[in-house]
Amino acid sequence: MSTSELAEPVTFNPLAEGFVAWPYDQYARLRAEDPIHRSELLHGYCITRFADVNTVLRDPNVSSELDHATPTPLTIDEIRRRDEAPRGGRTLVLLDDPDHAHLRTLIAKPFRPREVDALRGLVDERVRVRVDQLVGARGSGEIEFDLIEDFAYPLPVEIFCQMLGIPEEDHPGFRFWVNCIARSLDPVMDPVEREALVGHMEDMYAFIESLVAEKRGRADDDILSGLIHAEEDGASLTTDDLITQIVTLYVAGHEPTAGLVGNGMLAMFNHADQWALLQSDRSLLRNAVSELLRYDGPNQFVRRIALEDMVFDTPGGTTSVPGGSVLYVSPASANRDAARWGETADAVDIARPDAAQHLQFGAGIHACLGSHLARLQSEAMFTALLDRFETIELAGDPVWSTRMVIRGLNQLPVRATLH
Ligand code: HEM
Repeated sequence: MSTSELAEPVTFNPLAEGFVAWPYDQYARLRAEDPIHRSELLHGYCITRFADVNTVLRDPNVSSELDHATPTPLTIDEIRRRDEAPRGGRTLVLLDDPDHAHLRTLIAKPFRPREVDALRGLVDERVRVRVDQLVGARGSGEIEFDLIEDFAYPLPVEIFCQMLGIPEEDHPGFRFWVNCIARSLDPVMDPVEREALVGHMEDMYAFIESLVAEKRGRADDDILSGLIHAEEDGASLTTDDLITQIVTLYVAGHEPTAGLVGNGMLAMFNHADQWALLQSDRSLLRNAVSELLRYDGPNQFVRRIALEDMVFDTPGGTTSVPGGSVLYVSPASANRDAARWGETADAVDIARPDAAQHLQFGAGIHACLGSHLARLQSEAMFTALLDRFETIELAGDPVWSTRMVIRGLNQLPVRATLH
C-alpha cells in the first residue's frame, strides 16, 4: 500500500476490486482507523471491532425492526417491498421481542441439541448418497467436481426438505425457489427480474400452503407436522406466519451452511497442514468447524437499528451514533480482530482453544436458531470429504458470488482420488 493511499481516509467499499475475494484488508483498516464508520453507500454505520459487535448484538436498545430507522433510501425501498408482498406473515428475524420471542418459541423445538442429534443418521445418509452419485457419475480413480455446485450447495436444501417430510421429487423445485429468494434479498435489481422472482416465491408459498393443509388434520411424525401443531401457552402459529417462518428457515439455513463448507474447504486447501492435522486427529473436527467459521465464515454483516443515541470509544476519543441510525454489524470482521484473538487472528489453527467464541452465529436474542443443525450438517460434509477421498485438492480458480451479506463461493473446482 502506498503512502498516498494510507493518507486517504478509509471508506467501506464492497464494490472495490478484490473485496469479494478478500474483504479482510478493508476490515483491518476500518478496525484500526474508523471502527464506527459512517458509510454513505449504506446510509448507516459499519461496526467492525469484536468488542463493539458483541456489545451491539446483545444490546436491548437496538432493534431488528426496520420501521424504527430514520428513513434512508434503502430502508424506504425495503419497507415498500415488504408491505407490497402478497403475503402478510412476518419473519422472526426482523421482529423485536415480544413478537420475536413468541415466534421463536413456537418453532424452536426441532432445533434443540437433542432433537438435532437425533437427525445424525438422516444427515449422514443424505451426504453418503450424494457422494455415491458423484463418484458413480464420474468413474473411479481420480475424479473432478465442483465442490459447491455438486456438493455443498444442494445438500442443505435436500436435508431440510427431508426433515420437513417433503417428497423427494419436489426437492429440485425447492432448490430453485431457495435460490430465487436468496437472490431477491439483494437490494439492487432490475424490476423485471424482481417481478419474476416475486412470482416464483408465490409458487413456493402456495406449495407449502397446500402441504400444510394436507398435514393439518394428520398426526405425522415429521418436523413440519410438529411446527403445525406447536402450541405455547395456548398460542399457535397462523398459516401465514408458519409459512413465512419455514421460508425463513430455508433461506437462513441454506446459503450460510453451503458457505461454511465452501469457504472452509478453500481455507483448508490454502492451509494444507491443517487438513492433514484433521485427517490424523478427527477429534479436532468440532473445533475445526468453529475455527473455519471464525477464519472465513459467510456472514459479513447483520443489521440493527439504534433505538437511542449511542457512544463508542474510538481511536482518539469517542464516536456518537444518533438514535434511528442503521447499524451494519460485522461478525466477519470481529472474528479477525487481533484485540480479541491476538497475534494469530489471521491464521487458521484448528486447535485454537477459544475458536468457539466466534460471532458467526450472532449473539443475543437473535443468535442463530439453527447453529446445532449447521454444525451437524457441516461436520457430516467434512467427514465425508475426509473419509471418501484419499486426497482432495484445488483444480482451478475459485469463483466468488457477488452477494454482499452472505459471502460464499459459486464455484470451487476440486480433484480428488478415491480410496
Ligand atoms: C453456518 C451456518 C449458519 C450461520 C453462519 C448462521 C448465522 C446466523 C446469524 C449470524 C444469525 C443472526 C442474525 C441476526 O442477528 O440478525 C442467524 C439467525 C438465524 N439462523 Fe442461522 N446461521 C447458519 C445456519 C442456520 C441453519 C442451518 C438454520 C436453520 C435451518 C438457521 C436458522 C436461523 C434462524 C431461524 C435465525 C433467526 C433467529 C432469530 O431471529 O431469533 N441458521 N444465523
